[in-house]
Amino acid sequence: IKARIGQGPLTGRRILVTSGPTHEPIDPVRYIANRSSGAQGTEVARALVRLGAEVIFVTGPADVPPPDGVILKRVETAQQMLKAVEAALPVDAAVFAAAVADWRVMGATDSKIKKQSGALPVLEFAENPDILARISQRRSGRPGLVVGFAAETDDVIANATAKRGRKGCDWILANDVSPATGIMGGSENAVTLIHDAGAEDWPRMSKQDVARRLADRIARTLT
Ligand code: CTP
Ligand code: CA
Repeated sequence: IKARIGQGPLTGRRILVTSGPTHEPIDPVRYIANRSSGAQGTEVARALVRLGAEVIFVTGPADVPPPDGVILKRVETAQQMLKAVEAALPVDAAVFAAAVADWRVMGATDSKIKKQSGALPVLEFAENPDILARISQRRSGRPGLVVGFAAETDDVIANATAKRGRKGCDWILANDVSPATGIMGGSENAVTLIHDAGAEDWPRMSKQDVARRLADRIARTLT
C-alpha cells in the first residue's frame, strides 16, 4: 500500500502513530481489552497526513475507521503491536495513542472454555511489553521525537510527569479520563502537554483540534 504524500511542512517526514485498543485473547471467542474508540489516534494520523507526512498507522481493533492516506497495519494484541512498531522504524517521530492492554492472559487456548466444565475459570496474567518505553529507550534507531499519552484519573499532572520520566519519551499528553469529564468515548478532549520545559494546559476542544494542534507542534519541532 502506498501512502498519500501531501505537500506541507511534514513532507518527506515519516511518522508512526499507534491507535485503538489491543485485544488479548482468553480463548477463540473471548478477550480482555482496554476501553478505546481509537478516535484520538485516528485524528492525530489524519492531521499528520494533512501536513504532508508519510504516516504508518498501527492500530488495534478500533470503533472508528482508519484515516485515508496512511500505511495501515492492523494488529490485535500488544505483542503484535510491538512487532509492527519495530518493523516501521526508522521514523522521524512517533505518537503512541494506543490503549495497550497492560496484561495478556497466560495459557490462552485455541479451544473454547466451556461453562459445563464444573469449576469457574481462573485467569492468570503476564505483563505486556511497554511499547512506548521500549521505543523511547532504544539505543539505536530511536525516533527523534517520541510522544505518549497518559490517561489518568487522579493526580493527573503528577502521574503523567512521572510517567514521562519513567518511560523516557519527549512529550506526554495527559488527560483526565474520570467518568465525570465525559472524555472517554466522547468527541472532545482536554489535555496538558508535558515536556522538558514544563506543562501547558490546552483548552478543552474537539479531538480533531487536539490532533491538529499536536501535528502543528510536531511540524514546528521537526523543521
Ligand atoms: N503504552 C504502550 N505500551 C504499553 C502500555 C502503554 O505503548 N504496554 C503507551 C500508551 O500508548 C500511552 C502511554 O504508554 O502513550 C501511557 O499509557 P498508560 O496506560 O497511561 O501507561 P502505563 O505505563 O501502562 O501506566 P498505568 O499503570 O497508568 O496504566
Ligand atoms: Ca496502561
